[in-house]
Amino acid sequence: MDTMTNTNIAAFETSMDTSGNFKAVLKKSQSCGFAHYRAIFWGKTSFGFAVKAEILTSLLGSMPGAAGLFLRSKLYPSLFASVGKKLLIGRNVTIRHPQKIRIGNNVIIDDNCVIDAKGETNHGITMGDNVFIGRNTNIYCKNGDIFIGQNVNLSASCIVVSSNKLTIREGTVIGAFSHLLSGGEYDYTDKMPFCEQRGIKTKGELVIGRNCWIGAGVTVLDGSNIGDHCVIGAGAVVTTPIPKDRLAVGVPAKVVKAI
Ligand SMILES: CC(C)(COP(=O)(O)OP(=O)(O)OC[C@H]1O[C@@H](n2cnc3c(N)ncnc32)[C@H](O)[C@@H]1OP(=O)(O)O)[C@@H](O)C(=O)NCCC(=O)NCCS
Repeated sequence: MDTMTNTNIAAFETSMDTSGNFKAVLKKSQSCGFAHYRAIFWGKTSFGFAVKAEILTSLLGSMPGAAGLFLRSKLYPSLFASVGKKLLIGRNVTIRHPQKIRIGNNVIIDDNCVIDAKGETNHGITMGDNVFIGRNTNIYCKNGDIFIGQNVNLSASCIVVSSNKLTIREGTVIGAFSHLLSGGEYDYTDKMPFCEQRGIKTKGELVIGRNCWIGAGVTVLDGSNIGDHCVIGAGAVVTTPIPKDRLAVGVPAKVVKAI
């Protein structure tokens, strides 16, 4: 069954759409179904690792209650590149390319999150100590990297995506339904239809500073860095960089006061 070696997986991933787009992957590959699946879900891993990951996530992924939390906290760590103490993972969490995911101490990932480090040349996702990821939040790489500093709190239903490098510095709180979009843009000057583009255009890395409060429903666009100790009002769309110690609100976000 394991007809796809790691070398083949590397070649397969190189040929695939770097956005990790399922459609593109399935269209381009000549390989067998399990090899597709393994490349998309588990990345450049051995067949044995993929089988172990399948068994663990199938048996424990949706197990309810304290038993589920306990067993996932004891058995999921072996899936990741590195994990500190006391990892708590809720129900129905989707984990992709776990060997490119590094997790600190006391991290909580709530129910229904997606943590996806997909990409062929990226480093993946790194979370510091005491990070909290609220339920339904989707953190994913499009061949980019994501660094989440210690004590960062991401509320429910956020989208965090990177096709370059996205950093959320220590102690920052992100309100529910916020979108942090680092790269992942389409070229509207290109004649190629958007659906055929790779969607990884970018203005550069995105940094959200230390000790910021990003209100609910905020969208931070590519390259719109936010300095340390900023507050961004609920519903804002940040389109340009915000200097440190500022309160910014609105669409597009404008600084209304120094804090
Ligand atoms: C920004 C915020 C913190 C208020 O801060 P504040 O210092 O009390 O600011 P003010 O109420 O004095 O508002 C300053 C100006 O910004 C405007 N403003 C405040 N919040 C705004 C928002 N979210 N969107 C647009 N404008 C806003 C005010 O109307 C005011 O405008 P004006 O000077 O023309 O009257 C608050 O409005 C906010 O958005 N909180 C986020 C709440 C949230 O998302 N919670 C989720 C939990 S993480």
